[in-house]
Amino acid sequence: MRGLKGKVAAVTGAGSGIGQAAAKRLAEEGCKVAVIDWKTSAAEATVADIEKAGGEAVAVTADVGQEDQVEAAFRAVVDAFGRVDILVSNAGVFSAERDGKVDTLPKSVWDEIVSSNLTGMYLACKHGVAAIKATTGTGAVVITGSPTAILGVTPASIAYSSSKGGVHGLARVMAVDYAREGIRVNVVIPGFTLSPLVRELVADPAVYEWNVKNIPMRRGAEPDEIAGAVAFLASDDASYMTGSFITVDGGLTAV
Ligand SMILES: NC(=O)c1ccc[n+]([C@@H]2O[C@H](COP(=O)([O-])OP(=O)(O)OC[C@H]3O[C@@H](n4cnc5c(N)ncnc54)[C@H](O)[C@@H]3O)[C@@H](O)[C@H]2O)c1
Repeated sequence: MRGLKGKVAAVTGAGSGIGQAAAKRLAEEGCKVAVIDWKTSAAEATVADIEKAGGEAVAVTADVGQEDQVEAAFRAVVDAFGRVDILVSNAGVFSAERDGKVDTLPKSVWDEIVSSNLTGMYLACKHGVAAIKATTGTGAVVITGSPTAILGVTPASIAYSSSKGGVHGLARVMAVDYAREGIRVNVVIPGFTLSPLVRELVADPAVYEWNVKNIPMRRGAEPDEIAGAVAFLASDDASYMTGSFITVDGGLTAV
């Protein structure tokens, strides 16, 4: 993909799943990658994989819901690589057991999920865009959205779905706000993706079947299949794209 070689990409939630696959793909395309995650050992494992494959990466520990940690994380990225060109704002949590229906959902669970999934996206974008502006001036932001922002496809997930709806709004307005400044903002909407936690949740074939029954391709995605779209949106091949939402969902939102 054009224009990725030598760029610096910061990827949140890169210790696992989609973020990890995106970090590895961006490294393969020649980016130096800051692997940001609140689980230090997970971030370090991603860095080790990237280095083993001949790439360059640094692990940064931060809870994206905590502003002091996010600010320090982007300072660490600039200290390590001197600049930030690309932000992949991806970190998020999904909790099928603790999330629920609105009349019974404890506010503490709402606060916890919204902290990672919406406040965390805002804070990563706030300090990530500030770092892009302060170092390279122009760049690309790729945000991980969700079908739950637009469809009621995941019942009893009020906090998760609401947080993702907020993320789509954040991305759309960011795209407009920064278009004239040369910072593109786009969203990848993954469908049912077999990241480690999801794979565990659907280990029972009956549960897997229930999850794929409305997906025209009748299967979940591998995280790698989402990472290609992330790298594309970050690259110069997407130079005229901002405010776009790309679904990578096996046809889920086409029906
Ligand atoms: N897997 C799916 O089916 C699916 C579908 C649509 C959207 N998404 C979204 O994709 C993103 C990645 O999900 P995934 O499936 O790869 O999950 P995952 O659990 O495999 O990876 C998420 C990573 O984010 C990290 N993280 C979570 N909260 C954090 C926080 N507050 N601060 C720092 N790091 C944090 C976790 O430690 C983990 O490494 C999430 O935003 C999720 O909502 C996933």
